Amino acid sequence: MPASWEKNLRSIQAFYTKALREAKDPKNLETLRVEVLGRKGKLTLLLKDLKNCSLEERKRLGPLANQLKDQLESLIQEKRENLTAADLKAKLETPSLFDPSLPGASFRQGHSHPLTQTMNQMTEILAQQGFSWAEGPLIESDYYNFEALNFLPDHPARDMQDTFYISSKFEVRSSKLKEEDQQPRTSHLEPRTGLLLRTHTSPVQIRKMESSRPPLRIMAPGRVFRHEAVDASHSAVFHQIEGLYVDRQVSMADLKGTLQIFMQSLFGSSTEIRFRPSYFPFTEPSAEVDVQCLFCQGGGCTVCKKSGWLEMLGAGLVHPNVLKQVGYDPETWSGFAFGIGVERVTMLLLGIQDIRMFYENDVRFLEQF
Ligand code: PHE
Repeated sequence: MPASWEKNLRSIQAFYTKALREAKDPKNLETLRVEVLGRKGKLTLLLKDLKNCSLEERKRLGPLANQLKDQLESLIQEKRENLTAADLKAKLETPSLFDPSLPGASFRQGHSHPLTQTMNQMTEILAQQGFSWAEGPLIESDYYNFEALNFLPDHPARDMQDTFYISSKFEVRSSKLKEEDQQPRTSHLEPRTGLLLRTHTSPVQIRKMESSRPPLRIMAPGRVFRHEAVDASHSAVFHQIEGLYVDRQVSMADLKGTLQIFMQSLFGSSTEIRFRPSYFPFTEPSAEVDVQCLFCQGGGCTVCKKSGWLEMLGAGLVHPNVLKQVGYDPETWSGFAFGIGVERVTMLLLGIQDIRMFYENDVRFLEQF
């Protein structure tokens, strides 16, 4: 037994030292390791065989087997390191699609739309002046958009606001009908729903006054719709912010002071404003408010068409009829209201020349702001 055992040991040694040295890759190396040192490996089994030998023989042969085990283990370790290094070297030397010298792909971060940014800026200023947030529906009734705001049924002032009406077929129709549309007026026979896309944010004034008691001070930002021919300064969809303040003895002076602070916070502390008489059915007196041209400081340039002023918003004192309509006694309460376009302010602040840019979602445009 010892003679054949020893012979086996030698042949394992001879075969595996050579085979391990010649192993081609880590997988091959692992197969060989399992074959010789694994739980049922050749050397493992041989070691187990020792128990059949006498104590004398075990004392002599045991250390031989352990020596071989150590030798093979260190051989495997060394070979594994060599193979890993060689593997890495080969990978690095093989031309590949991965070019570590290329700049990394940048992570594109989104941000608010420029209109949202201006809207936030404007509502923050108004919030500081005590105005609280209010909203209303985009699809409005004729009552809130016109009637309650003192637009009489056939008053030409309705034409100031080119309205998209909603017919019972849920088609959006315009009040600005072309000549040929006017002829036998089949559209006239179509039952109107009394619904329309709101042409301004003023209906929120009515909704808010209906649902609360004075005094109140609200701002109502949001989208509005008009049947406009689209060009560089007109869009069928745009945004307004409405302001409304109702209290005892509110005057034009309060309106002017509020708007002065609003415009100065928005455009700079030296901004001047002026009031021009105007007409809106829901305010009396009514005014068109201008700011001194931001580009020429009043000197006259192409932006202000040499006038030195930029038209900015509509405003006035709430008409007594409007107050009556919501059950406020005009003898006790008075108020001011204003409505300002967000697109126009944004264009002036950011130097944007064409309103259509806001709606095209061209990332090259948007990412500049
Ligand atoms: N609603 C008016 C418009 O869109 C603006 C306005 C609001 C005027 C409030 C006066 C008071 O033209």
